[in-house]
Amino acid sequence: MPTMTESSFYPISLDEIETKVARKNGRRNGWSSNGGYQFSLPLGQCLDNVKEIVNEFGERITRVDGDIPADLSVNDGDRFLFISYDQSALTHGLHRYPAKFFPELPRWLVKRYSNENDLVLDPFSGSGTTNIEALLLRRHSVGIDVDPFSRFLSKVKATPLDESELKSTQERLLRFMVNYQPSKVFESDIPCFPYRDNWFNREIILEVAYLKKTIEALDASNDVKDFFKICLSSIIRAVSNADDNCTRTVIRKKLNKRVYPSDALKRFAEVVLFNVPKMIEFSQRCPRNVAAIFPEDMDARSIRYEEENFDLAVTSPPYANAVDYPRTHQLESYWSGLANGSLTPLKKSMWELKAFRLTNTSNFTRSE
Ligand SMILES: C[S@@+](CC[C@H](N)C(=O)[O-])C[C@H]1O[C@@H](n2cnc3c(N)ncnc32)[C@H](O)[C@@H]1O
Repeated sequence: MPTMTESSFYPISLDEIETKVARKNGRRNGWSSNGGYQFSLPLGQCLDNVKEIVNEFGERITRVDGDIPADLSVNDGDRFLFISYDQSALTHGLHRYPAKFFPELPRWLVKRYSNENDLVLDPFSGSGTTNIEALLLRRHSVGIDVDPFSRFLSKVKATPLDESELKSTQERLLRFMVNYQPSKVFESDIPCFPYRDNWFNREIILEVAYLKKTIEALDASNDVKDFFKICLSSIIRAVSNADDNCTRTVIRKKLNKRVYPSDALKRFAEVVLFNVPKMIEFSQRCPRNVAAIFPEDMDARSIRYEEENFDLAVTSPPYANAVDYPRTHQLESYWSGLANGSLTPLKKSMWELKAFRLTNTSNFTRSE
C-alpha cells in the first residue's frame, strides 16, 4: 500500500484511513441480528426469521428479519414489517439514490414469480436494485430509466470486474491520491457548470478534478474506470457545500457545513477501500452469461421491446411529483460529465409522465 511521501501536498496517512474503514466494516458486520448478507445461505433457504407480532395499537403484524422466504403467506389485508440488512451488501451501497428498494424485496419477488433464465423488467430502475438481484438469481433483466446518471450507476453496480485488475488499479489510484499535486490540474480539467464555485470550495474543486483526471488517464478497462468514477461520484455531495441530508441539492447557510482541504482525497480513499472488497465479492457471486442491460434513451412510456418478452415486471413508482431526481444528483451528474447546463429537459421528460404504455416495436431477443 502506498504511504505518505515527502512530496505530499497534504499530510495524508493511508494507514489512518485504512483503520477507519476497518472500524466501519467491523461495525457493519456487527449489527446484523441474523448473520448479515442472506445470500451466504443456500438460495431458497431461510433462517427462522418470520414472527407474528402485535404492535402498540393491538394490530397483528408479520415481522420478517432479513431474507423474505419465497413462500411467505400473503393474504388480503395482511400487514408486514420488513427489517433489511442488505442495503449496503455487495454493490447495493455503492452510491446514494433516493427511494431505493431494500434488496430483500425485489429478491423475494424475483424468486417467487420467476425462474432461472427468465427475463425481468424494471421500467423505473433507478439505481438498479431489481436488476442486481435478478442477476444474482440468474435471471436476465432490462432496467429502464430516463435519467442517464441512473443508467450509468446501474451499469457499474451490475458489472462484475476482474479482481486482479481492480486491486492493481486501486493501488495505483491510492498512490496518486497520496501524492496529490494540484499543479497537475489545469482549468480545462475542471468541468463548467452553473454556480460551481458556490457549490464547492476551490481546494475541493482541484482535488476532485485531480482524481477525475487521474481515473480517466488510468491504464485500465473502461468498466474498472467507471467503477472508480462512481466511487468518486459517491463523495461529491459530502464534499460540496450542499446539505448532506436533504434529498434535493441545496445549500443551507444555517447549517454552517464545513468542508476542509484534503477532504475529497481522504473520502475518496475511504470509499475505494470500503467498496473494492464489496465489488470483488459481487463479482465472485455474479453468474456469467446472464445479462442485465440498461438501454440508452428509453422511457417507461415507450418501451421498445415486445411486452411478451418479459416474464415478470418488478418496479417502484417514479415519484414524478415527489422526488426531483435530476436535481437530487445534479452535482454528481455535472462531475460525471452526464450534464453540463440546464436540467430542464430531463425534468420535463419526468413531469410529462402521464401514462405508462408498452409499445410493440422491439427486436429484443434472449441472446442479447
Ligand atoms: C423510486 S426510483 C426507482 C428506485 C429503484 N427501485 C431502486 O431500487 O433504485 C424511480 C425512478 O423512476 C425514474 N423515472 C421517472 N420518470 C421516468 C420515465 N418516464 N421513464 C423511466 N424512468 C423514469 C427516475 O429517474 C427514478 O430513477
